[in-house]
Amino acid sequence: MVKPDCVETNQVESIKALVNASGFLIITERMLRLEESLARNFYAEHSKREFFDDLVDFMTSGPVAAMVLQKRNAIAEWRELIGPTDPSKARVSHPQTLRAKWGIDTQRNCVHGSDSSLSAGREISLLFGGSRSTGKRFMRGVSRA
Ligand code: PPS
Repeated sequence: MVKPDCVETNQVESIKALVNASGFLIITERMLRLEESLARNFYAEHSKREFFDDLVDFMTSGPVAAMVLQKRNAIAEWRELIGPTDPSKARVSHPQTLRAKWGIDTQRNCVHGSDSSLSAGREISLLFGGSRSTGKRFMRGVSRA
């Protein structure tokens, strides 16, 4: 998911070009503005963190670009391409990554990536369909990370 900071600065096409150049297939995509309840649900695992409300405010502040990406070992490969959460650290240790290029801070860090195939299925369902079966359909045949 391209977060509101990078949608606002018109980086979506540049990011998609890098996605394609890195061997990912974009299976489906959509632009949407997250409702507060959806953002809270999406980030529920962080609900006890001190930054949770700020994160929800930010993620609902403008449109996001959501994509389902396909590649062998896609979750690890995508996390490699996006780089560490903190862009200032990414610029030192992983300068070629998306967050190093376009991230501002740990909140406005340009992109999100699912951290496992289980969360990918859940997140796809939240962003692309009303039921868990939507995510399961995309994830069918994918080995568990
Ligand atoms: S973890 O659990 O320590 O690995 O968490 P982390 O990956 O660092 O961050 C989880 C998501 O929370 C966002 N984040 C923040 N948002 C607002 N303010 C602060 N201080 C902050 N710190 C982390 C971070 O961008 C992660 O979002 P996603 O979309 O999952 O990358």
